[in-house]
Parts: sequence; C-alpha cells; structure tokens
Amino acid sequence: MTSWLTDAVFYEVYPQSFQDSNADGIGDFNGIIARLDYIRDLGCNAIWINPCFDSSFYDAGYDVRDYYRTAPRYGSNEDLRRLFDEAHSRGIRVLLDLVPGHTAIDHPWFRESAKGTRNACTDRYIWSNPGTQDANSPYESIRGFLCGISERPERAAINCFATQPCLNYGFGTVTEDWQFAADSPEAESTRLLMQDIMAFWLGLGCDGFRVDMAASLVKEDPGHVWTSRLWRKVREFLDERFPEAVLVSEWGNPSEALNAGFDMDFLLHFGPSHYMDLFREHPYFAGDPQADIAAFAEAYNQAYVSTHGKGYICIPSGNHDMIRMRDTLSEEQMKLAFLFLLTMPGCPFIYYGDEIGMRYVHGLVSKEGGYERTGSRTPMQWDDSTNAGFSAAPAEDLYLPLDPDVSRPCVAAQRDDPRSLYATVRALTSLRGEFPALDADADFAFLHAESHAYPLVYSRHRDGQTLIVAINSSAQDTSCTLDSQPSDTVFALGAPCTWQDGTLTVPAASAAVLRV
Ligand code: GLC
Ligand code: CA
Repeated sequence: MTSWLTDAVFYEVYPQSFQDSNADGIGDFNGIIARLDYIRDLGCNAIWINPCFDSSFYDAGYDVRDYYRTAPRYGSNEDLRRLFDEAHSRGIRVLLDLVPGHTAIDHPWFRESAKGTRNACTDRYIWSNPGTQDANSPYESIRGFLCGISERPERAAINCFATQPCLNYGFGTVTEDWQFAADSPEAESTRLLMQDIMAFWLGLGCDGFRVDMAASLVKEDPGHVWTSRLWRKVREFLDERFPEAVLVSEWGNPSEALNAGFDMDFLLHFGPSHYMDLFREHPYFAGDPQADIAAFAEAYNQAYVSTHGKGYICIPSGNHDMIRMRDTLSEEQMKLAFLFLLTMPGCPFIYYGDEIGMRYVHGLVSKEGGYERTGSRTPMQWDDSTNAGFSAAPAEDLYLPLDPDVSRPCVAAQRDDPRSLYATVRALTSLRGEFPALDADADFAFLHAESHAYPLVYSRHRDGQTLIVAINSSAQDTSCTLDSQPSDTVFALGAPCTWQDGTLTVPAASAAVLRV
C-alpha cells in the first residue's frame, strides 16, 4: 500500500470544464496550472484528471486514439509535464486516467486490426464469429458487437459505446474457437502494452492512475479471477520500477479490487455498496425515510473488514458519470454530507464544483457521449465575471453552457463567507489534516447505523486519540446510546449535541465531531 495516500484528499478535475486559458472555450492544462493554488487552498493534495489523451471524443476522452500523446485541445505533453512539476511544487500529486479496456475505433491499432490481411494488431481486439449484423451480446462481460467498418468478416466486441472496441486480454472461460485464453501470448501482450504506457507517464512525473472499468479486462471471468491476476502482475511491475505509484480502480467492489492489487477502489453507482442510498436515490443525507443506512453500513463493514491493511475504500462526492449531489441535497445537507465524506476512512474525492454546491444542469443537449451525465460536466463557476471566470471565449463557444441560474454558486462569493459550503469543506479538510485519527488508515467502527433511523454515529481512532462523529440529517432531534462522555467538540454544524447518562442527543440537521 502506498504511503502518500494516508493523508491524501483528492480533487477530480474534468479538464474540459475547469479553466480555459486561451479563450477557445475549453479547459486546458495551463488553466489547471493556474488553479492549482485554489485546489491546494481548499485542502486537497492530490488530483485526478479525466482522460486527457488524443481521442475521437465520442466518450469525452474515454475513447483513446493515442495513449502517448495528450489531446492538443488541452496542450502538449510538455504542458502536462509542467503541470506535474507545478503540482509537485505545491505538494499536490497527480493521477491520470488510464483506459485499458478499450480504445477509440479510430485508434491506429484498431484500424490495423480491422484490416483483411494479418498484421501485428490482428489479435489485439476481440473479434467474434463472422456476421454482418450489429448484435446484442450473449456474454455478460461484453456489451455488444460492432461491424460494418472492417474488412474482416468477424464482429468486434465493445465495452461501452459502439465506438469503444475491447482490447484483447483473453477469456477466463474459453468456450469458442475465436476466444483467446487469459494467459495466451496475445492476451499477455496487451497487458505489456498497458505497462509500457503507464511507465511512459510515470516517467514524465505523474503519480499514478485512476483506472477506467478496471474489472472489465478479461472476459467471461467469474469472480474476476483472471482480471485480478492480471492487475497483480501490473502491480508487481510497478513495485519494481515505480513503487510510489498509486492505482485507484473504477471497480465498485473494494474486496475484489484491493485483492487485485489496487491501492484504493471507489464505491460507485453500481456494485454492492449501497452508495446511491447516501446522497442520491433515497438520500439518507436528505432525510429520505426510505433511506437505509444499515444496508450501507453492512456492505461497508464487509468491505472494510475484508480489505483491512490492503488498501482503501473511497467514497467520492460524485464524479463525471453521476448526477451532481446538489440535485438531491440542499446546500445545508451537503455540509453534513461533506462532514461524513471527510471523516470516513480511505481518501476523499471531491468532484470539481461540489465544494461550492454546483448544480446539475437539466435539459442540456448531450455532449461527447455524456447523455444524462452532461449536466454534471458544465464549466466551473469561479466568479461573476464573463462566463463565471471559466473562459474569455464568446458564451456560444463554451464546451458546455454555464448553469443559467442567476443564483448559481461561485467560488468568489463563498470564499470569504464563513457560513458557505466552501468554507465548511475547507474547514473539514483542515480538520482532517489536524487529527491523525482521521487519516485514511486510522481505525474505524460504526456505533449507531440503524435501519431507517438517525443519527449515524461512528468512531475513528489512532494512537490514543479517539473521535466520535455524529450526524443527523433528518428534520427531528434524535438520540442514541454512547457509553463514554465526550470531553469536547472539535467540529460542529448546526445546534450542539448533548450527552447525558449515556445518551447522545443530536439535534435536527446537525453534526459534530467529538473527542472522547
Ligand atoms: C467509465 C467512465 C465513463 C466512461 C466509461 C467507458 O465508467 O467513468 O465516463 O464512459 O468508463 O470508458
Ligand atoms: Ca483552452
């Protein structure tokens, strides 16, 4: 497990929408560099940048055309290298986004692979039986098949959109003659290619990767046995050459992902975690009576116990694939949500703009394969100058329109307001820095997480320091038993908690971090 994660707090930068430095309407590396001080002042010491490589942009960059070259719209490789340096000089680490499962249809590898004559790329993708119809997939691990753009008679397996053909890492269970085994030389060579790409960027100064669809590589692989084996080999490779490099998976199942050698895995909108019950579907943090925090706690405990000492579970505030938290929670409820996110184990990930409560913008035309995700990807709102300080381009040239609401939040208005969401997030990141009991790997236990009930209470502990976190995001005062009397309150939102004769009372819409 990599040591720098212990006190890491991440900020996710969707590069298109963060800061435009050259007035072309789209964010870029120089823009990110210009805002590194902002990220540091928020209390984040690591960033994840969504894919910034040459791409056809049918899926916002998750369809890579050249893994070794940045997309010109963001800047050059040299600009990105400078971003690493500028970040490091401020104590900020940088994760790039690795998309190992599929490429763009116009990646030169796929163009070669699609040719009718055998060549070095023929077996780099998964080509099934001949067929000229687009076909649904009988395989759980393959989204579908594409055809009509190749000289070959077979159809190519896809991972997500029809523009994203799967790279060939083989099959766990081989049942057809067109399937390669996961340990075949063809499958192995794809892993070696990915390792080479990782080494290239780590050599230029990046600190690791968020890995896209990490569980998807080996097809028909029950329990992800072969996919896990593959990632353990990648980890071995990194341990030899780049031991500090961090791998964070988009897997959505920490028990599996951390066993596969990842340093951290996200709880996500899919998978067994009940993450969606926190802020979105039946949001516990909005006091939804259907919310079941006990189901979340049970899943979390299972994952926590089975991954203890191996790596971390990350609970993100959101990401570029989810509806923004502000769509279901009020700004006040988001403060309680952030108190939770910044006091749980593992490393927090703050999706850009969530720290000021940026809204999900409804009704946008889909951009670069965003579909319903598009409304969570609008330009960062910095101030009340032109285009909210995001870009000097004419408004109609922006990558996406700004939130048109006249009362849209912005950094400038919240920065000096001690009651703002920004100020709360800022105070919480510094609280986290102040108390070792809030480190990623400090001990953790739920004390009160009952079905359809409040408050949520848990403890964090390290080196003789114990903190109790109590959160009541409902509209009623609530109480629960707490054996030891808190000595003082180190952080509070809303009316103060009280303790008497073994009972902790947490007022409506309040939360506290107590020392015992
Ligand atoms: C991941 C990304 C998502 C992308 C998909 C296909 O889920 O987060 O944005 O569309 O993979 O690469
Ligand atoms: Ca730009």
